[in-house]
Amino acid sequence: MRIRTFDQYQEAYRHSVEDPEGFWAEIAQEFQWRKPWKRVLQWNFEEPNVKWFIGGKLNITENCLDRHLKDKADQPAIIWEPNDPTEPTVTLTYRMLYDQVCRFANVLKRNGVKKGDRVCIYMPMVPELAVAVLACARIGAIHSVVFGGFSAQSIADRINDAQCSVVITSDGANRGNKQIPMKDTVDDALIGCPSVKKVIVLTHTRTAVAMLKGRDVWWETEMKQVTAECEAEEMDAEDMLFILYTSGSTGKPKGVVHTCGGYMVYTAYTFQNVFQYEPGDVHFCTADIGWITGHSYILYGPLASGATSLMFEGVPTWPDAGRFWDIVDKHKVNILYTAPTAIRSLMGFGLDYVKGHDLSSLRILGSVGEPINEEAWHWYDDNIGKNRCPIVDTWWQTETGGMLITPIAGITKTKPGYATLPLPGVQPLLVDEAGKEIEGNGVSGNLCMKFPWPGILRTTYGDHERCRQTYFSAYPGLYFTGDGCLRDEDGYYRITGRVDDVLNVSGHRIGTAEVENAINMHTGVIESAVVGYPHDIKGQGIYAYVIAENDTDHDVDLVRRDILATVSRIIGPIAKPDKIQFVSGLPKTRSGKIMRRILRKIAEGDTSNLGDTTTLLDPAVVEEIKAGALVEVKA
Ligand code: WTA
Repeated sequence: MRIRTFDQYQEAYRHSVEDPEGFWAEIAQEFQWRKPWKRVLQWNFEEPNVKWFIGGKLNITENCLDRHLKDKADQPAIIWEPNDPTEPTVTLTYRMLYDQVCRFANVLKRNGVKKGDRVCIYMPMVPELAVAVLACARIGAIHSVVFGGFSAQSIADRINDAQCSVVITSDGANRGNKQIPMKDTVDDALIGCPSVKKVIVLTHTRTAVAMLKGRDVWWETEMKQVTAECEAEEMDAEDMLFILYTSGSTGKPKGVVHTCGGYMVYTAYTFQNVFQYEPGDVHFCTADIGWITGHSYILYGPLASGATSLMFEGVPTWPDAGRFWDIVDKHKVNILYTAPTAIRSLMGFGLDYVKGHDLSSLRILGSVGEPINEEAWHWYDDNIGKNRCPIVDTWWQTETGGMLITPIAGITKTKPGYATLPLPGVQPLLVDEAGKEIEGNGVSGNLCMKFPWPGILRTTYGDHERCRQTYFSAYPGLYFTGDGCLRDEDGYYRITGRVDDVLNVSGHRIGTAEVENAINMHTGVIESAVVGYPHDIKGQGIYAYVIAENDTDHDVDLVRRDILATVSRIIGPIAKPDKIQFVSGLPKTRSGKIMRRILRKIAEGDTSNLGDTTTLLDPAVVEEIKAGALVEVKA
């Protein structure tokens, strides 16, 4: 399973294309199955219908926990670094994690959760979050983790879509010098969620919260009522493991579904190879478990590999901008996996914050979530890796479960800005607008995949047709990623960004339609159009053009702030526009379609060549928008 040289990579790649079933069967055999699979793969990208390790039975937590108790019981599984560096670190060995997961699995059962039930988890980055996720998997409940930056409304939408019966949360969360309510937000959400019968509340910040009799129970009290033995539920390889909501170009976020067998095999395989994990290494992925990166590379991939995973509760800039480097030094981190937006932000604080920290334990650096610009790549390479740590620029998506196009650390020659080559089992191709394959090198197009890998999404929860429409209908027979991509003369891939109406703001995926819907909820707003624009730190910023009612009672700054508050309320603070421009009209075609191309150009500050505007209903509106000031909002 381990690739050690570039020749071995090429050999593995060839094998994976010529005999995918043989290739993946060999890898899957290294895991613990209750019953072997009868068939490795069955698939078509038309319905779509993808099944891996058919008939195989397993429980992913037996692979993440029980399996390691023989020889790694006392090895740290999770090292937790709290928000406040003066508070103690928590280390959970595999044995301790196993005990806690079994206990909490029993708590879930006590509270009526059964195999197949959906459980919503809205928690800060604390060890109990890992315990909650794994406890669901232990009893075959399907977890739906909702990122802490989402609003009550967003939580409610996700709970209702999946019909969750239980919510797990905490009183509050610590983020830098702020305390953020969690339970209060859940309480607001639950006003509109009749499916929820129980709420399990962890005390973390010890802030006062409302506890409703019959519905709300304390984590700690419940944990005292149960034993530390909980037989794992036998799951089919294709039973659902989790749902994770993600934004698309239209409508509400959709629940991407991953299943037990394929996801486990794929995350562990990619984790071990891409990061060249060695026993004893400390792996620090800075993502939040509310996103796929945290699911796959803080929890499942590392734990299924018996690794030590570091979980960090806080933010990179508190108490100061040296916090990551402090953590690397303190815990002797060997692998650091973070996002370009964090690198760019820390770059801005200067090198004084890096100095004085011993970073010599670092062996491998990773990047994920958005294209990494060359300046950030070099800063990371020079100042953090000291030019001796390979950087793996890993491209993948919520839908792909794990990394698809990425260097293998120390093995694939890297090139700044390039995700380089597909991993074994991954068959990318570029297509033009008409869906025709663009062959050869030195070309660019829309990035698709022509063959399934074990970690591919199986469906979108409760709406399979939406899954087909979104990913498998633009180019029949192919999985469409939504990303644009170029393949250079060496056959190296460089992701150029989304080609649909999805923004990538600080590595967070946000649909423009979602933000527009939220803005339109504000009483004074008639219509809006949202586009992205290049932002030094966030990668992309959110630019909103808003047609507002003439409201002489309020000044425009106040209306702007009201709009921000509305978006925060509907989606969450992460979706707040960076710029709001009030306009009297939007550039529309005669058929009423907004010409976003023009709005994007103006937002980018490039008004010299707006292209063809002759099909516009009212070309004059473009002049007005061009002339309008681009106002930065200070929230
Ligand atoms: C973008 C995050 C360039 C891309 C794992 C993709 C990247 C979207 C990279 C998925 C990268 C992710 N280089 N772009 N290395 N990694 N992206 O679902 O546009 O939150 O489609 O998954 O992020 O975001 P998601």
